Amino acid sequence: MKTTAPWLKKVAALYDAKRRDFNWRLAPDGVIHHHNGLVYGKAAFLRRLKKSGAAGKALIHASETALSELGFKYLRNPRPGMALLDAGCGRGGSSLLLAGKCPGLAIRGVTVSSYQAAAARAAAKGRGLGGRVRFSRASMLALPFKPGSFDRVWACESTEHVPDLALFFSQTARAARPGARLVIIAWVRNEAHARGRAYARQADKAYVTKIHAEREYLEASKNTGWKLKVKKDLTGPTAAYWAGRLALGDGSGTESFMAPAFASRALLYRLYAYDLVE
Ligand SMILES: C[S@@+](CC[C@H](N)C(=O)[O-])C[C@H]1O[C@@H](n2cnc3c(N)ncnc32)[C@H](O)[C@@H]1O
Repeated sequence: MKTTAPWLKKVAALYDAKRRDFNWRLAPDGVIHHHNGLVYGKAAFLRRLKKSGAAGKALIHASETALSELGFKYLRNPRPGMALLDAGCGRGGSSLLLAGKCPGLAIRGVTVSSYQAAAARAAAKGRGLGGRVRFSRASMLALPFKPGSFDRVWACESTEHVPDLALFFSQTARAARPGARLVIIAWVRNEAHARGRAYARQADKAYVTKIHAEREYLEASKNTGWKLKVKKDLTGPTAAYWAGRLALGDGSGTESFMAPAFASRALLYRLYAYDLVE
């Protein structure tokens, strides 16, 4: 993998160091997410969190699983015999869930973190999925797969780490087959909001990201073959999730600015689905 670029090394270092972290503590089932959750009915959710004490972590975790489940609906029915690329797979949470839902789907996950790749591999092996669901340390900006290898591409909260979105779109287009579907879920800077840039900068510093504006997701995909088919706003339900993390009081420490960033809509939470033109 070309991790020679100083930027990728920084991203890898961040995830190599996240071991017994907040995400891990949320997931005693071993399905570890590194993404936001979705909460519908904020007031009731906060009341339940308050009552549940330490068990509140399970509620936060369930809301993150709900995000994966919603995103899967936009994958256009992945079927046995198909292959899916999990681009920026973390510790494999979404891939493991998807493998359970869709037996016969071959999944390949890539992450820049060698620790994450090993942890995801161990989790897949522990579930008897080792042959069908594989993870490796590789960059989605230099994908080590033959052209046309994938029918579906899943990129959940990974494109924020990509300085060059056009390269991401062209690499995934090359690795995918004509007719493939790409689902991206991302934190997006709201260009129309006075505090959009300031919150994005604060998050970028904490998470080694380069949060993009929506315009960039639309422009960078041009001439790569990917055509935008769906744009869904998830900012409200994810703002409620961050409010829950803030109330839990035992999070990652970023809740103090991520909660108001989404609540004010200075940062947006978006799902984009693209199809690769035939
Ligand atoms: C916020 S985590 C999301 C993980 C996972 N998709 C999830 O939803 O739980 C970001 C992931 O993107 C990966 N990533 C960032 N840049 C990457 C690149 N150029 N190639 C491969 N993975 C990358 C990181 O290694 C990390 O696994």
